[in-house]
Amino acid sequence: MSGPSSNPASSARAVALSVLQRIEHSGAYVHLVLPGALETSRLSEMDRRLVTELVAGTTRMRRALDALIDRFVVDPPDATTRTLLRLGAYQIAMTRIPAHAAVHETVSLAPRRVRGFVNAVLRRIAAEPMRWPDRATELSYPDWIVERLSDELGEADALATLEAMNTAPSATVRSDGYVQDLASQMVAGSVEARSGELIADLCAAPGGKTTALARTGAHVVAVELHRSRAGLVSANADRVLEDPSRVVVVNADARTPPLRRRAFDAVLVDAPCSGLGVLRRRADARWRMTPDAIVGLVELQGSMLTAAADLVRPGGRLIYSVCTLIAAESIEHPIPEGFEVDAESPGESWRSRGPGWMLLPHLTGTDGMTMLRYRRRDR
Ligand SMILES: C[S@@+](CC[C@H](N)C(=O)[O-])C[C@H]1O[C@@H](n2cnc3c(N)ncnc32)[C@H](O)[C@@H]1O
Repeated sequence: MSGPSSNPASSARAVALSVLQRIEHSGAYVHLVLPGALETSRLSEMDRRLVTELVAGTTRMRRALDALIDRFVVDPPDATTRTLLRLGAYQIAMTRIPAHAAVHETVSLAPRRVRGFVNAVLRRIAAEPMRWPDRATELSYPDWIVERLSDELGEADALATLEAMNTAPSATVRSDGYVQDLASQMVAGSVEARSGELIADLCAAPGGKTTALARTGAHVVAVELHRSRAGLVSANADRVLEDPSRVVVVNADARTPPLRRRAFDAVLVDAPCSGLGVLRRRADARWRMTPDAIVGLVELQGSMLTAAADLVRPGGRLIYSVCTLIAAESIEHPIPEGFEVDAESPGESWRSRGPGWMLLPHLTGTDGMTMLRYRRRDR
């Protein structure tokens, strides 16, 4: 952690503040603005880590921070001052940065006219213990996410898993150098690809699962809608595979894949989803996702599942995965016609959920994931 700085304009906190302003007031995405801001800063590696933690933490904990702040403000502060207060409150209440340093450093970034106000509010936050009105505020999630997951998973698991997603993820690196969360590695493993098999991966970019499948010696047709993202699959296959020719990338829509029907030993659909299982990685995602957006995603996923089923050979496997724990996006999709649920457990980390399986972040330390495995019945 950096100590008090003599040059606030270039300090880690100043960089964090300017990134937060863009996120909170211009709708910028953390994962899009933060890397560029770090790149153009002249900060040390340690200070860059501090900026990352301050931006991600302040964004993630926005609701809880506002509750801490609002105890001590009468007239709502302007947007810029609120961002500053959130940044200060985050350091005071949610990091190991000493409160006096957090207050001092934050006040030094404040315009002169609000310095006294920011100083007074932050000092009171540091001094007075918080009584949280409810768990949604304390864990800093929108009510609808807490309510929906509590209804679907039970309150204890929902809250524990939401709490686990307030921590930064650790990077896991495969033996071939590809950085991929263990949950995704487990999904790829659950396809049980074998050398010589023909496999379709219908939502392939950036290629984590495609390359894991091809490493077994299987041939993989990787479908991806977005051209630039399709390029990432090829680039990653070239980078990590001994034989990149085992992967053929097709830039197409998974709802209408230009592939031969009933020709594939296995088809993986790693569908676009609400991402509510990977909130550790996307600090702002909880504030962007909406129940309405989920309705649209469910429809898209359903069309993909139907198209994918058509590609599976008699006796072949269909695997559907999403990095979310929402039932409508996973276990509530109808079983494709002609298929049966593969009842065999994919491994001890997976917990059974209806016809499928899930990974809960607080139990596995991984991303949250739901997976369904089917087999084509008719031969
Ligand atoms: C969850 S990500 C896939 C991650 C990938 N399987 C991996 O392990 O690296 C979903 C992907 O589906 C792509 N996608 C979205 N709509 C699509 C569609 N209609 N057809 C094909 N791909 C689509 C997105 O661009 C995104 O790359």
